[in-house]
Amino acid sequence: MKTMTRSSDLFSQARELIPGGVNSPVRAFGSVGGTPLFIDSAKGSHLRDVDGNEYVDLVSSWGPMLHGNAHPAIVEAVQEAATKGLSFGAPTAAENSLAKEIIGRTAVDEVRMVNSGTEATMSAVRLARGFTGRSTVVKFAGCYHGHVDSLLVSAGSGVATFGLPDSPGVTQSDTIVVPYNDLDAVRDVFEKHPDDIACVIAEAAAGNMGTVAPHEGFNAGLKEIAHKYGALLILDEVMTGFRTSHKGWYGVDGVAGDLVTFGKVVSGGLPAAAFGGRRDIMSYLAPEGPVYQAGTLSGNPVAMAAGLASLRLADEKCYETIRANADRLENLLHEALEREGVAHHIQRASTFLSVRFAEGEGHNFADMQAADTFRYAPFFHELLDNGVYTAPSPFETWFVSTALTDEDFSRIESALRPAAKAAAAATKEG
Ligand SMILES: Cc1ncc(COP(=O)(O)O)c(C=O)c1O
Repeated sequence: MKTMTRSSDLFSQARELIPGGVNSPVRAFGSVGGTPLFIDSAKGSHLRDVDGNEYVDLVSSWGPMLHGNAHPAIVEAVQEAATKGLSFGAPTAAENSLAKEIIGRTAVDEVRMVNSGTEATMSAVRLARGFTGRSTVVKFAGCYHGHVDSLLVSAGSGVATFGLPDSPGVTQSDTIVVPYNDLDAVRDVFEKHPDDIACVIAEAAAGNMGTVAPHEGFNAGLKEIAHKYGALLILDEVMTGFRTSHKGWYGVDGVAGDLVTFGKVVSGGLPAAAFGGRRDIMSYLAPEGPVYQAGTLSGNPVAMAAGLASLRLADEKCYETIRANADRLENLLHEALEREGVAHHIQRASTFLSVRFAEGEGHNFADMQAADTFRYAPFFHELLDNGVYTAPSPFETWFVSTALTDEDFSRIESALRPAAKAAAAATKEG
């Protein structure tokens, strides 16, 4: 067992100061139990907690750290930008550069910078409503798009982790939830509400109910159905964007959302995100159009510098490495669980993955919930005790970085031996 005295003390203190002791719920280890790690520092593929324990990082700050932690080129870009001033509340050339980089990789004509993925999806939905003059939003069970009111219904990520069907404080009247990967259900909804639906929003590939890849033709089908009824398709690429390929998920299936949201990798690890889309839709945004959207720190120069440095490092070689590392992790997971006879399926969507403790692939939230999720907590804790940090919930995705080394994979392989044994021994009763 690792010593976690300082993390424990800090968590007790945090619980007096911050609701639940954390500033984002999944960090609290609620579904796996135990004390969340308080991180002191991180470099490359490793995290160091405040007790001095080192871990191989398979969380990657929930996605942004494509190139590993504190990559020298990103840190240098941040330092250089910071010395010139932290925020001006006025345009900078850096915003043009990052916008150009995003537009160059995708099918969007224009982008607007915001501060978080939540803000990106919230603004995209508002814009879709303003553009179409309609109010209803169709979303998929288990997809998470940040904590936007209209999208926090049957959501994945922390909402799934804590088993909260829906959050109090959220009005649901304008949101219709359908099962992921089910085009017939989407058609049904449009037939029932042909003139009311402003947009369908989907994660370009789902990563917040664990990893669930869209069926071939699913995103294209969504676009076709939405357009047939005069609605828009919002593809949420906050997680997939520039992590799954040079062009994000657009580079995988070639489907261009009418509006697309970006975050995580595009931020380089600082608070930045973006949404973009067709020029005729984007021109509805103030000050060109009537849909209001703004932000004191939007396009912050330090965050822009980090995002730009992160994307400039994200060349074809980077994606080859990410794919190879994801393959390597998938094989190790499979071998370890197979050896112990644990029913499992490694859910893959391009470069990201998660473990489903059941035979066969999960295609939607119901499938992911029906797995033996009770095996996850002991599996997670053995990995942690053996120096491998993964998502503290079965309803999250594992993120590899380019910084992982052969030594890291050896450590993962060794840690997986007791972890797979613990998963095999787990019972529903605990
Ligand atoms: C697909 C997706 N959209 C939106 C968000 C919200 O982003 P943020 O946490 O930056 O608000 C997330 C966060 O995990 C996400 O995975």
